[in-house]
Amino acid sequence: MQSLFRLFALAAATFPLLPCAAPLSAAVVGQVVPGKWIVTLRPDADVATVASHFVKVREIRGRNVGGAQPESGDIERQYGFGSFKGYAGSFDKAMIEELRSLPEVLRVEEDTVMTTFDFVTQSNTENWGLAAISSRKKDATDYVYDSTAGHGTYNYAVDTGVRITHEEFEGTRATWGYNVVNDKNTDNAGHGTHVAGIMAGKTYGVAKKATVVAVKIFEGNSGQMSVVLDGFNWAVRDIVAKNRTSTAVINMSLGGAASATWDAAITAAWAQGVLAVVAAGNENRDASLVSPARSPEVLCVGNLQRDDTRYGGVSGSNFGPAVDLFAPGTGIVSSYRTSDGAIQMLSGTSMAAPHVAGLVSYLRGLEGPMSAERAKARVLGLATPGRVADARGSADLVAFNGAGE
Ligand SMILES: *[C@@H]1O[C@H](CO)[C@@H](O)[C@H](O)[C@H]1NC(C)=O
Ligand SMILES: *[C@@H]1O[C@H](CO)[C@@H](O)[C@H](O)[C@H]1NC(C)=O
Repeated sequence: MQSLFRLFALAAATFPLLPCAAPLSAAVVGQVVPGKWIVTLRPDADVATVASHFVKVREIRGRNVGGAQPESGDIERQYGFGSFKGYAGSFDKAMIEELRSLPEVLRVEEDTVMTTFDFVTQSNTENWGLAAISSRKKDATDYVYDSTAGHGTYNYAVDTGVRITHEEFEGTRATWGYNVVNDKNTDNAGHGTHVAGIMAGKTYGVAKKATVVAVKIFEGNSGQMSVVLDGFNWAVRDIVAKNRTSTAVINMSLGGAASATWDAAITAAWAQGVLAVVAAGNENRDASLVSPARSPEVLCVGNLQRDDTRYGGVSGSNFGPAVDLFAPGTGIVSSYRTSDGAIQMLSGTSMAAPHVAGLVSYLRGLEGPMSAERAKARVLGLATPGRVADARGSADLVAFNGAGE
């Protein structure tokens, strides 16, 4: 996304609501989860400061035991990668005020609901998405790609889980990474299996030899931001620990209210060398109102129809300067959760984003390991300009793999 939005984010962070207290970020849109908060510590907080902060939290919690809201102070999740340090839990208003006054606290933000960005379409269009990203012209019919096909690369699917036994993944190319939600390593929504098929399926996938790593953050089609952040935290740490920054990409086909906490997490991941590809969202509004779509470091993808028009209407693709490029997202056939051979046609920016995540893996398989920065620049540099009707201030670019004409 463009630097304008980075400036906006910085400006917002520079003017807290109260002097000397960490800003209390209210959700701009999206449903608040009552009593749940996400606390972020200052990027320069060292190990000792973080440890003493947790001692203070336990002290405050100790005072609350037996009080009106004895559950206040329960830390439910912790985050830590690069400069991003924080935690989520149940805190009452009084405790939140106390936490905000601590010098090491950067921000407290209400936990909010995030959702996947897909919907079922009734159209009979045959699958067209793969052909579209291997051609600069409309109505292409064949997918043209190099046989390296993303070999040696990883796609982290932060999503509803993946049916890793699906035939599209040929027994070995989908693995289970982390399950934040429960002990059922399944996909009960279907979204994650569909997205993974677009990224890496043998028939429906862009990068047919890439490996999918399933990170389950939703049991259905929505969940809490604090939970999604837990999955993202795991993925970033795993990519860094396994030296995969130049071979792995995180795909997030989900979103929620604009969030300064998400902005900080994405910035910290980017500083660690981790690229995230994110759906712009399906609310037919400015993508700068949606996180993580609005973060300047992500590749934010809009939903393109077969006729090269932005998908509009009530579930229309979000738009505006935050959208970096478009990819096929309407009437996309891919693997589904219901059996190892099942397929489904879905639409949404959720289907557009994995085309780009798959493309990142494809280009890395073909041209060799590439840093997050280089991979992002390569995708944007290859994309075809001047193709999108009704882009509404988004970048008029369509994802292209460089193989066809
Ligand atoms: C880390 O990965 C890069 C690129 O894939 C590779 O060139 C490098 O040798 C790896 N480093 C280690 C320590 O394995
Ligand atoms: C990839 O991200 C897109 C957009 O954020 C999402 O719709 C899709 O479900 C994700 N795919 C996987 C496998 O997580």
